[in-house]
Amino acid sequence: MKIFTTRFDIEQHLLQSRNAGKTIGFVPTMGALHQGHLSLISQARQHNDEIVCSIFVNPTQFNDPKDLEKYPRTIEADIKLLEQAGCDVLFNPPVNEIYGGNDHWRLDIGETEFLLEGKFRPGHYQGVMQVVYKLFSIVKPDDAFFGQKDYQQFLVISKMVDHFKMPVKLVMCPIMREPDGLAMSSRNVHLTTSDRLHALVLSRTLNWVRRNFNINDMLRLKSEAEQMIEAEEDVELDYFEIADGETLHPATERSKTIVALVAAKVGKTRLIDNVILTTDS
Ligand code: PAF
Repeated sequence: MKIFTTRFDIEQHLLQSRNAGKTIGFVPTMGALHQGHLSLISQARQHNDEIVCSIFVNPTQFNDPKDLEKYPRTIEADIKLLEQAGCDVLFNPPVNEIYGGNDHWRLDIGETEFLLEGKFRPGHYQGVMQVVYKLFSIVKPDDAFFGQKDYQQFLVISKMVDHFKMPVKLVMCPIMREPDGLAMSSRNVHLTTSDRLHALVLSRTLNWVRRNFNINDMLRLKSEAEQMIEAEEDVELDYFEIADGETLHPATERSKTIVALVAAKVGKTRLIDNVILTTDS
């Protein structure tokens, strides 16, 4: 695997790949890689000739400096995992390679930025758009792969890509789960043994909603799901929503895609999860 830390070097390399007729698949990450990320790499392998992964803990998407500081950084282990997964190129730039001194950049994508996660993490999605825009401009991928776990992030990035008419196809890949149902996340390393057990209420509740889903009964399901989560020790619910998969407003019987989304603090760790309930595509 080739490793680049500067924009210039990776751009030169990818120019040669493109000139050789290769298509580029891109998996942007913040590192602390797990099977969920590796599944994105293997999806990319099925679509593209050259696979690029980035590891960059993006400071502008953290609204809490403590959260940025404690974000797990495991670069040596990440490199090994990427090599085993057959990744061709790693881009691992320092902060000053991505951000100049005077980077004030905002994009208005409407409400999607402010609902659900947006309410609890003001500015987060502006930071995500900034960095993904910059990374896409450097890598110029044909396809880019993101996990369904950050469902709202996928919508936000889709809107940004539409806005700038960026020539990249976004691919949403299924959530990878531990055998007991917990959605894989880089943040899971922060869970204590007892947090780990309490955290299962999230996937258990989403599963219960999926099994009992009935388009005419969404308000009752949402309220029962909230009660199930709130009853769990050491779990503080931020939101549970049964939402229209395109607008993220509460779903109606006419919604094309319906998705149940949850965010909660388990002990000191904030987790998100979701399940797609219906889609007519
Ligand atoms: O999903 C993530 O890991 C990050 O939000 C992303 C897309 C790599 C941007 O920093």
